[in-house]
Amino acid sequence: MPVVENSKLTVVGAGSVGASLAYAALIRGSASEVALYDIAAEKVQAEVLDLAHGTQFTDARVSGGDDLAVVEGSHVVVITAGAKQHPGQSRLELADTNVRILEQLLPNLQERAPDAVFLLVTNPVDVLTVVAQRITGLPANRVIGSGTVLDTSRLRWLLARRAGVATSSVHADIVGEHGDTEFPLWSNARIGPVPILDWHGGESFSLAELDEIAHEVRNAAYTVIRGKGATNSAIGLAGARIVEAVLDDEQAVLPVSTVLSGQHGIDGIALSVPCLVGGDGAFPLEGVPFSADEEGLLRASADALRASLGSIGR
Ligand code: LAC
Repeated sequence: MPVVENSKLTVVGAGSVGASLAYAALIRGSASEVALYDIAAEKVQAEVLDLAHGTQFTDARVSGGDDLAVVEGSHVVVITAGAKQHPGQSRLELADTNVRILEQLLPNLQERAPDAVFLLVTNPVDVLTVVAQRITGLPANRVIGSGTVLDTSRLRWLLARRAGVATSSVHADIVGEHGDTEFPLWSNARIGPVPILDWHGGESFSLAELDEIAHEVRNAAYTVIRGKGATNSAIGLAGARIVEAVLDDEQAVLPVSTVLSGQHGIDGIALSVPCLVGGDGAFPLEGVPFSADEEGLLRASADALRASLGSIGR
């Protein structure tokens, strides 16, 4: 992908997710400048140095450090700072801690990058997207969350592998909370032009198998965290993909998390539905057909997120 000239991405948080997202953005050419900010001076300087040492092999430049000046001029600011899930811990359990970190960070970030699109990655990403939009006062399209873009990638990989086709030929989305209440939009799922349940004459996927695949996607992070202590590579790639859609004004359809204002009967809650993502951020697509069951599942997802916001007094 040709790098968009004079496009600056700042990643806030030099932990494993932030460093992986910066690395993915460098390799994919998501931005012409990738900056990394963290309050931990030694850590962020080492991460920046390690990235910079490889820039001969990329088309982008790297900057960063523990001075907020790093953030200035950013077109996209990605927030990855915060506590991460421990084995078996749900994302929603991180809400209290990470909301406090966000409340400390965001006003300074907004002051340094007043025109940026803000992309939340820190979990619980949907709860933090609502809180971030309230703190900044920016329109919902400019404060978005990575949402279920990663979960959708996991779903497409699993379906492609089972069907024996290229992942790029699988069109299926995970929507709702990036978490335990997420679900696949099976009513829209296709392989090429073929509805998923009709693939290979209906021989490939039974309803039971689709349920099993959905379960595997919903629990993917727990599986990876159990084995290696965290997830970072795939979320780094998913984040870089979203950044590109903004910086390139791509108008790409991606299931990012945005604060809904009445869509699907949901108001003031951020969760993922298919959105148009471009230079002004993300706008939920109109006219996406949801079955009656899927509308119910989306409202259940919203209810879980509303309860989480309520439990932390937001
Ligand atoms: C995961 C983290 C990013 O799903 O929530 O891997």
